Amino acid sequence: MCGIVGYIGNKNAAPVLIRALKKLEYRGYDSAGIAVYTGEDILVKKAKGALKNLAERITGEIIPYKPADKEFDACELSLFDKTGDFVKGTLGIGHTRWATHGEPSDTNSHPHSSTDGTISIVHNGIIENYAELKAKLQAEGYVFQSQTDTEVAAQLIAKAYKEEKDIFKAVLKVLHLIEGSYALGVVCKDYPDRIICARKESPLIIGLGKGENFIASDVPAILEHTRDVYYLGEKEVAVLYTDHVDMFNFEGEKVIKEAKHVEWDMDAAEKGGYPHFMIKEIHEQPKGLTDTMRPRIVKDNSGKASDVYFEENKMDEAWKNAKRVVITACGTAYHSGVVAKYAFEKIARMKVDVDVASEFRYRNPILDKDDIFIVVSQSGETADTLSALRLAKQNGLKVVAITNVVGSTVSREADDVIYTLAGPEIAVASTKAYTTQVLCMYLLAIKAGKLRGTLSDEDASKLLSELETIPAKVQEILDGKDVIQKFASTQFNKDKIFYIGRQFDSATSLESALKLKEVSYMHSEAFAAGELKHGPIALIDDKTLVVAIASEPSLYDKIGSNMVEVKARGATVLVITQDSGDAFKGKADEIFRIPECSSTLASLLTVIPAQLFAYYCSILKGIDPDKPKNLAKSVTVE
Ligand code: M6R
Repeated sequence: MCGIVGYIGNKNAAPVLIRALKKLEYRGYDSAGIAVYTGEDILVKKAKGALKNLAERITGEIIPYKPADKEFDACELSLFDKTGDFVKGTLGIGHTRWATHGEPSDTNSHPHSSTDGTISIVHNGIIENYAELKAKLQAEGYVFQSQTDTEVAAQLIAKAYKEEKDIFKAVLKVLHLIEGSYALGVVCKDYPDRIICARKESPLIIGLGKGENFIASDVPAILEHTRDVYYLGEKEVAVLYTDHVDMFNFEGEKVIKEAKHVEWDMDAAEKGGYPHFMIKEIHEQPKGLTDTMRPRIVKDNSGKASDVYFEENKMDEAWKNAKRVVITACGTAYHSGVVAKYAFEKIARMKVDVDVASEFRYRNPILDKDDIFIVVSQSGETADTLSALRLAKQNGLKVVAITNVVGSTVSREADDVIYTLAGPEIAVASTKAYTTQVLCMYLLAIKAGKLRGTLSDEDASKLLSELETIPAKVQEILDGKDVIQKFASTQFNKDKIFYIGRQFDSATSLESALKLKEVSYMHSEAFAAGELKHGPIALIDDKTLVVAIASEPSLYDKIGSNMVEVKARGATVLVITQDSGDAFKGKADEIFRIPECSSTLASLLTVIPAQLFAYYCSILKGIDPDKPKNLAKSVTVE
């Protein structure tokens, strides 16, 4: 997720801004930039890549590459401090960008400015109606430099400023025009005594110093200067001066709030107060899901969800004519493909083959030019997945990539890209990337079903409307996490953990078992429940935990019988289900209820308790879930 900072005070702003951005590096970024008011103009400096590239661009001094260590960090920081010798000014904004619209590049980096250079802004979030607003501005003669949604907001503010002749009124006006999520920092060269900032659904804090004030996406950026902060509320806007801060709601009415004193240390602050990135990212799923679905769900005139729109999509004809979907990926991303197999079959009535990329690349697969080939990769750099993609392309297939990293190799080599807008995933164990991948699969299946006439408009609309309820349901599960934590404390010493499920739930079982293995080192396996009696049941004893995933009411009896079989052999049984009746009474030792949901979409919910269970087992075993042994976040070698 992008990082925003801003400074107004008596110090040289450039080094303050870049050092603050350094403290937001943990959020992940692909480029960075600052805008500083130098007395006459707003000077903007930006660079793709690491923050030191930005500092090097400003100072002309190059730090030779050396792997990160303390000495090197100090060297980098002194380079950051030197930026003040080159960019003089005491008011500025800065940004680390995690690309969502347009590849990582100097031009697409923030800050973005209006053509006349009056306004510069930084932005974290997604402006969903940017394409429509951009087209209108272009029709009026506005010219754009970048592919970003943010530049549209910069131009809009400049336009509104011309009309209103007042920067605060101009910003307020634009806040009512843009849709989506955003934290914004705005400077205007005609108002060198203030920074304006606003937020809707993206975090933004205001740091209160003595004769200086700050804005930041997150606490670590300002901790070296102050621990006193205002948390800007939802749909609030603030104006920062050197000696005070005024806050308003989006209607321009004054808001009074109390400053808070932050007690966190730097490590806790980087994780937003969570002890680990894994649990932070588990909690970011409602937002990741909302960000990923909202721009893609089309509403009709009555506001009803009616269709799916992928702005990147160039393949409607291919989807109409496809005979089969072939999905290839690794690890967790592969599991999203297994969910997709059920989703495409059920929703679009399409034939699907799914394979792990390391197997696919060494087979001599039978591929047809009419097949649609989907690769899934959080990082977009996984070696086996890339090879599979290239093999498919050599065979003349059209490739769709689902990835979380804009500009990644997979995104560049595919014919079509669908981005999961989960934000950077730092923990090795994938959580929010997985659920957003699964979501993209559902959206694609609905789109395919509509294009091929296998899904009625009414059924598509029902599914889309239900999808919109999923983030709140995920939140409900997260709010009840104590039950899972308590259960984990009674189970983390078990020898074997088996996940069982049928249909969609067998796919979730695969992902649940992998998550547990990765972060708790417990022996866990997943089986299609019906397979138990064909072998695995021989392993069941009183040292075994069986987690049954049961989201399909028509199969409750079947999986219920499997639970009875393993319980009779001494296993402890947990069932994750939406049943609120007696379907599993006496058959399970513990029942974890998920909110009601159609079994088609329940995969987005059933996996959440399993992620939490894996996390808590890891903690109980004294393992650092963010850095499990032998694993790397991105597997770029075979
Ligand atoms: O970056 P990718 O999605 O291509 O990575 C694929 C796998 O390496 C990855 O999902 C791995 O299994 C994770 N550690 C799972 O948590």
